[in-house]
Amino acid sequence: MASYLETAAEIARESGALINQYLEQRVGFELKGEYDLVTAADRASEKLIVERLQAHFPSHAIVAEEGSGQDNNSGYRWYVDPLDGTTNFAHAFPMFNVTLALEHDGELIAGVVYDPVHNEMFAAERGSGAYLNNRRIQVSKTPRLEATLTATGFPSRKRHQNVNIHFYYQLAMLSHGVRRAGAAALDLAYVAAGRLDAFWEFALNPWDMAAGVLLIREAGGICTDMHGCPMNLRGAHVLADNGLVHDQIVTLFAEIFQGKFRFPLPEIRAGA
Ligand code: IPD
Ligand code: CA
Ligand code: CA
Repeated sequence: MASYLETAAEIARESGALINQYLEQRVGFELKGEYDLVTAADRASEKLIVERLQAHFPSHAIVAEEGSGQDNNSGYRWYVDPLDGTTNFAHAFPMFNVTLALEHDGELIAGVVYDPVHNEMFAAERGSGAYLNNRRIQVSKTPRLEATLTATGFPSRKRHQNVNIHFYYQLAMLSHGVRRAGAAALDLAYVAAGRLDAFWEFALNPWDMAAGVLLIREAGGICTDMHGCPMNLRGAHVLADNGLVHDQIVTLFAEIFQGKFRFPLPEIRAGA
């Protein structure tokens, strides 16, 4: 199995170098939806990754965000986000990554999240722990919600009717802070590395989450949905954390899902 992880890391590194070249050129963007950006870098990165995966593992299925994957009956399935954090990338905000993960018979077995700006390779394979640039990583030991630094995201597509602002506000009032950095796979990798204590988001896609979920599990953390029930990559939402603050967050989220808010959103007063 090591060769799956090694190959994934090698491909992510190559694709990260390509994305860095595009970053220097400040390429323009196009819109896939009303606010959903795509760039030449997304397409070039996906082309490279899919070509490499097909060359190494011709029988494997590939699910890739920009649509150039291949579906078949293989028990092996790669999830590919060729550029996670495209909006950041398009504005030269240095928070984006390349992420690939491999599932075998429905079980995640290998995954990488590579940040080419900071040259950080987060890598995990099932049963062998999680690593950042070859050093073992663990989730944080923060025991109380009040002492957490957490993160969330707001989808660029499907942004209408998103209730996440309520979750954001309640958590922000109860913790050290909630970050919204704009690259879900890196948010998950940061939970695995203990830089964040928890992350949640609605409406992510399997390619955003697959590698990060494996990283967190291998780093000793927990991934469920926002009700605390088993998650799946096609589910409506995800909650990932260090395990110690899990019950406190699920309790808080249960209240919010019921429309009960510990802190009401403030009203805006003229002149305030
Ligand atoms: C997006 C980013 C963002 C998250 C969105 C994703 P993309 O991925 O991960 O943080 O909030 O839901 O779609 O489109 O940049 O690959
Ligand atoms: Ca993404
Ligand atoms: Ca993407």
